Amino acid sequence: MEIIGIDVGFGFTKGYNGKNQVIIKSIIGDAADIQFHSPLGDNSAASNLHITLNDKSYFLGDYAELQSNIRDYTLDQDRLIADFVKILAIAVAGICCDGKEPLHVVSGLPVGFLRRDTKKFKEALLGDHEITFHNRGEKDLTKTISIAKIHIIPQPIGSVFNLIFNDSGKIVNKELAMQKLGVMDIGFKTTDFSIFDRLQYIERGSSTLDVGISKCFTVISNKLKQESNINLELYRMFKFIDSGAIKIKGREYNITNLKKRVYSHFASAITSDLTRLWADDWDLDSILLTGGGSLELIEYLLPNIEGGVIPISKAIDARLNNVYGYLKFGRYKWGYSGSKTASSSKKVNKSQASEDMNNEEFEATDNEGPKPTKPTKGLSWLKKKQA
Ligand SMILES: Nc1ncnc2c1ncn2[C@@H]1O[C@H](COP(=O)(O)OP(=O)(O)OP(=O)(O)O)[C@@H](O)[C@H]1O
Ligand SMILES: [Mg+2]
Repeated sequence: MEIIGIDVGFGFTKGYNGKNQVIIKSIIGDAADIQFHSPLGDNSAASNLHITLNDKSYFLGDYAELQSNIRDYTLDQDRLIADFVKILAIAVAGICCDGKEPLHVVSGLPVGFLRRDTKKFKEALLGDHEITFHNRGEKDLTKTISIAKIHIIPQPIGSVFNLIFNDSGKIVNKELAMQKLGVMDIGFKTTDFSIFDRLQYIERGSSTLDVGISKCFTVISNKLKQESNINLELYRMFKFIDSGAIKIKGREYNITNLKKRVYSHFASAITSDLTRLWADDWDLDSILLTGGGSLELIEYLLPNIEGGVIPISKAIDARLNNVYGYLKFGRYKWGYSGSKTASSSKKVNKSQASEDMNNEEFEATDNEGPKPTKPTKGLSWLKKKQA
């Protein structure tokens, strides 16, 4: 058994198994016939991602952005679950893992879709999946990714687990574990708010807003369209948003001031939502900002937030906080021996795996409050607390 955390976001899909980590743009494209491959440029597996899954070939991530004739990304939750989750999640699992052992996966859903989509998410992934990686200039590599178990938690809680657990899945930050924590996870398309009181998930202050950094990108791209008449796809904007300048048809546009105005407006809107949503939760001990968007907006967010904000760690990419926490939680739940656990090459099929469908739901528990931890049992007391 091998444990992996997988976070399929609207902007980026992330995977981490403790040895390998991967971030790819959540873009799927047709596998174009490329006649000539330049020997120069980036040759790493994640940047030339050409796969075949269920007899269909795809380019993924940057490679799709660059080379596919038809590129698809989505800002719709139903489409994400129906058309993207399986391909993206199996691809990142295949990049991180060798496929020799069945996988136990921890993943997350936006707070607002947890109840609705958990079953569909599990159905998409449980069982055996044969994936082929077509490596440029090398032999194809086929792996069978066998997903035996999936545990789904609210996405932002991954970031809390990342702070509370150590790499072996032991609770090390006991002080934080005893606090009442607010988490704001600003992603590409959604912003998730969540409250965690002494490791209990509080429904009242937890919700998903349908806004993320892509809102800012849309405003900027509309403005650029007025000036240049070019329709900019949102996923092509990461690079130049960062640099503050874009060249369209030979003309350079400086967007530094526009970006500042848009970010500052967005940050104050999102922090007003936070204030409204957490109006009754004035007793929060700390507020944790996470998700790639928080990092991007940090200087505009901080002046607007009242309360003790836990500083964003610059040590790791903020987009990875959730998936790091998923892995740690998986190790807490299923155990971690420090090296490989007893290896099993047995593959799982859909019916065996479906056993996992209805148990181990995040909210399914009758127990009250934090109890002494039992490493292999999982946070069985982790339950939604209705206010
Ligand atoms: N190195 C980076 N490259 C690209 N984007 C980055 C980087 N660092 C931070 N960002 C920001 O991270 C955002 C994406 O964050 P994240 O990966 O948390 O979103 P997501 O999980 O894909 O989206 P959602 O939670 O809405 O599904 C981007 O919109 C960008 O603003
Ligand atoms: Mg996210």
